[in-house]
Amino acid sequence: MKALVLSGGKGTRLRPLTFTCAKQLIPVANKPILGYVLDQIAETKIKEAGIIIAPETGEYVKEYVKDGSAWKIKVTYIPQEPLGLAHAVKTAQNFLGNDPFIMCLGDNVTGQGVKKLVEKFEKEKLDSLILLKEVDDPSRFGIAQLDKKGNIIKLVEKPKVPMGNMAIIGTYLFSNKVHQAIERIKPSWRGELEITDAIQEMVNMGFNVRADVLNSWWLDTGKKDDILSANAKILDEYIKTNVQGETKNSTIEGRVQVEPTAKVLNSKIRGPCIIGKNVSVENSFIGPYTSIGDNAQVINSNLEYCVLMENVIVKNVERMEDSLIGKNAKVTKNSKCGTIKLHIGDFSEVEV
Ligand code: TTP
Repeated sequence: MKALVLSGGKGTRLRPLTFTCAKQLIPVANKPILGYVLDQIAETKIKEAGIIIAPETGEYVKEYVKDGSAWKIKVTYIPQEPLGLAHAVKTAQNFLGNDPFIMCLGDNVTGQGVKKLVEKFEKEKLDSLILLKEVDDPSRFGIAQLDKKGNIIKLVEKPKVPMGNMAIIGTYLFSNKVHQAIERIKPSWRGELEITDAIQEMVNMGFNVRADVLNSWWLDTGKKDDILSANAKILDEYIKTNVQGETKNSTIEGRVQVEPTAKVLNSKIRGPCIIGKNVSVENSFIGPYTSIGDNAQVINSNLEYCVLMENVIVKNVERMEDSLIGKNAKVTKNSKCGTIKLHIGDFSEVEV
């Protein structure tokens, strides 16, 4: 069995960060989301993964994953113009051959991993197994209708008329029969070859398509607020107290990880939080659910529920909340008269 990891796409909703970074590499708890996806694949018996990359951001993905040896997985990169998830499968056909495979979105993570799904798919000799999750707002998702045995009857993308609340989330397993289904589908109104259409076609063709319901959390990090929620969830789940850097005249409360070479001076840190390598925090408060990337500086400032990427500088900011700050960005307050001075990139968002 192989894995196909989708790390292409346009990432328009995460501009400007996606001008200089693949969205799958945006860090949560100081580690790229794609890293969590590969960790979960590494827990299975799969030893070969194809990674779909986009022309603009593929090099960043390659720089991070390299040959996959950090996960003991042999990686093949597959460039794709972002024309839909089923188009990604079609593009990967040479790599996949006739092997069954698990397809994971590089910007989605769940709390339960994929090992059990792989085992179920093989044991039950399925043609497709898709993962579903109950959602509050079905009109925003691809929704699946099931019969009593858990077989899929119908799939509808963003239904206007209610038909249940089981959303299709970013983990799918397929036998080689998926390729026959993809040959038969046409691009949707948005010009993409949709994976929901391919799965529906598999159902229509009488293949053995089943669903499994996820009982744990699911994070889809397509937008800024999703990244902040993912960061909070991952910090909550995984961070243990581990203070290795220097903490002088400072209070550390709750679960906080301070990497070696970080310096915390005259400050208060309330976890769950992570403070990266070579970070400097001075006369500041770092509140819960904050991740500070390597080499960042936080001086005379109060932050809470934020993600700061590498080399960020935050200075004299009385209160910063719910913020995602890209690499090498600077946020400072110099004037006292309430004027704001900006030098920000295309598609940035500022709320004052
Ligand atoms: P999306 O988040 O649906 O699409 P996108 O990356 O183009 O984002 P936006 O809507 O903000 O422009 O994609 C889900 C995942 O699948 C994501 O990790 C990117 C990946 N993907 C591909 O690899 N190839 C594709 O053709 C598409 C559409 C997505």
